[in-house]
Amino acid sequence: MLFSIIYLATLVLATTNDLSQWIDQETSVAQTRLLANISPSGGAPGSVTAAQSHTNPDYWYHWVRDAGIALTEVSHWLNTTSSANLDKTMQDYSHFSRALQTAGGTYGLGTAKYLLTGTPYTGPWCMPQRDGPALRALSFIGYAYRLLQEGKDVSEWYDSKLPTQSLIKTDLEYVSHNWQVDDMNCDIWEEVRGHHFYTRMVQRKALVEGAQLAQRLGDPGAAQWYQQQAEEITQDLGRFWDAQAGHLRTTLDFNGGVNYKTSNLDSQIMLAALHGGMDDGVYTVESDRMLATAVALIDTFGPLYPINKVKSTTIGNAEWPIAWALGRYPEDKYTGYNSNGPGNPWSLITSGMAEYHYRLVGTWNRRSEIKMTQGLSDLLEQMKAYYGAVFNQSYTVGSTYQKNSPAFNEIAANTEKAGDMYMARVARHTDANGQMFEEWNLNTGYGQGAPDLTWSYAAHLSAARHRV
Ligand code: NOJ
Ligand code: NOJ
Repeated sequence: MLFSIIYLATLVLATTNDLSQWIDQETSVAQTRLLANISPSGGAPGSVTAAQSHTNPDYWYHWVRDAGIALTEVSHWLNTTSSANLDKTMQDYSHFSRALQTAGGTYGLGTAKYLLTGTPYTGPWCMPQRDGPALRALSFIGYAYRLLQEGKDVSEWYDSKLPTQSLIKTDLEYVSHNWQVDDMNCDIWEEVRGHHFYTRMVQRKALVEGAQLAQRLGDPGAAQWYQQQAEEITQDLGRFWDAQAGHLRTTLDFNGGVNYKTSNLDSQIMLAALHGGMDDGVYTVESDRMLATAVALIDTFGPLYPINKVKSTTIGNAEWPIAWALGRYPEDKYTGYNSNGPGNPWSLITSGMAEYHYRLVGTWNRRSEIKMTQGLSDLLEQMKAYYGAVFNQSYTVGSTYQKNSPAFNEIAANTEKAGDMYMARVARHTDANGQMFEEWNLNTGYGQGAPDLTWSYAAHLSAARHRV
């Protein structure tokens, strides 16, 4: 009896350590490989290649979105490690970004991708895309505060002038004047024209944080304008809820592009909570509409990919339960090389779902309570049905559970564990040397599409950073 208790305890301990160890090791690989994609040889200083792949697929470009997401991680990382190299990386990225802002081109700041020399891409492409400037502004705002703290001049980042010569204000002016004007705007998967939930969410966050920075730097008129536009976006976001389907829709006012995306259900909605959520309850991870959408996504992708039949994986010397691999949207036909289908699960999306769960727990801890909504209750039911979670406490929709109560503890522990199961899923399909791809083949689970995708590493770093 005693033996078996000790045995069990060791097993649990070993299991915990193995996943934590994998996450830490992968974090160091992700940092190294992400940095290798910034200022790569053959690219201008500060350019960020989406991947070091020149053909099949050709990802040898600076995508404003991917770069913004990646450099947001670099900036967070600078907050915990003071490093002259990382600081230089931010400076180079800043200068390169300023060159892009003034490079012109048919789509101006709506240009989604540039050659690594800084020239706008001129081939046929779904453009403009209007999330990029918002993500770029967000990647600079945290950095600007850090420079301010160090007593440095930030006018290169924000200058209170019109016309402005500064990075953040250029993007905020663009976002605030363009978010609603046209429905030719392409979504982040570069396939559908219309108005997109993800794009709106990151635009809103950039405007709110931008307004705070403007206020701090003595630009109150601009602060008021950015804030007002953000509030209008908040109003507009209400349109994306589909009461009948019971989830948020990814695109409204469809105006061309792929026409087989009939569900209008897309993981980019979940990513919007991660990249655009502001801890104010507006489509944040714990908001009921976002939870309902997460539940719908999990339901949809589970049965779609044959690799999801596998329920566990070996990490270190322990067997780990794994959650489902998730993709972009159910009708997806992009294989990582072409659009002949079938679509695959993606690394950055599965890491994103891990982060989603960690952020739920983080939010509850900060608030010292869990509010049980229908969406949360559905998510917990899924954990039971799909992932074998055990709940001994009962919970009721409408109730609130205080920190340290048995219900709070059990819900948080199971949610944390589900997050870990998504991380373990990522571990299963990541090469032994830590290399990540854009996608995993839906039948074999092997990496497919762009190798060493910058965004896959950024998504891992962000998920690991939010692990509780
Ligand atoms: C390349 C894009 O990057 C990808 O997201 C898209 O699915 C394909 N082109 C097809 O349009
Ligand atoms: C395809 C993705 O759909 C798009 O969002 C991304 O920007 C590019 N790949 C580059 O990684």
